Amino acid sequence: MFISIEGIEGCGKSTLVRGLSQYLQDEKIEYVITKEPGSTSVGKILRQILLDKKQQINPFTELLLMFSDRLDHLDKVIKPSLEQGKIVITDRYVDSSYAYQGAGRGISKDVIDYLVNQTGILLPDKTILLDLDPEIGLKRASSRNELDRFELENLDFHKRLRKSFLDAAIAYPERFLTIDAEEKPKEILQIAISKLF
Ligand code: TYD
Repeated sequence: MFISIEGIEGCGKSTLVRGLSQYLQDEKIEYVITKEPGSTSVGKILRQILLDKKQQINPFTELLLMFSDRLDHLDKVIKPSLEQGKIVITDRYVDSSYAYQGAGRGISKDVIDYLVNQTGILLPDKTILLDLDPEIGLKRASSRNELDRFELENLDFHKRLRKSFLDAAIAYPERFLTIDAEEKPKEILQIAISKLF
């Protein structure tokens, strides 16, 4: 099973991923936790460029770098792990490209659809969306570390991201499970476990 976790900045993905990891370990189920961008040696270099607030990057360049990271991630981590029968949980995947580079940067959905179709990337079996008001998310994100190139974008940008994720959840109800990220972490984990496994 291939699972992605999505949401805006500060929505609590890392906490949920840690909880799922603990659960799978306790249940003795084989799994791999991974993330985008930056889970391979090529991806780590791309991540550095992508998050660096000193870089000015054309939206299409940004999109193509995200897809370069994704293809390497699929080849080197996701596909081999799935072939070994492991559950793969990725912290962000293609829905982040539709949100950030699509709704955020203004690239048309058709361009991203085209890349998805031409590269033949795998789609997750299940996607958990942690939905949160961006004002709360940005406050959480800015209180814990220095903001990166995406977190530094204005509130409007983050509002567009939230809408894009929610639109995707409506468009693909079979794949998406949306959870209110203002719930307590324990509740969120319980809901996720009960729906996923
Ligand atoms: P990261 O530090 O991993 O943050 P987060 O905890 O928010 O996931 O940063 C990854 C950033 O990359 C995040 O701001 C979202 C962005 N991103 C895109 O813009 N497009 C994508 O396709 C992906 C996978 C991530």
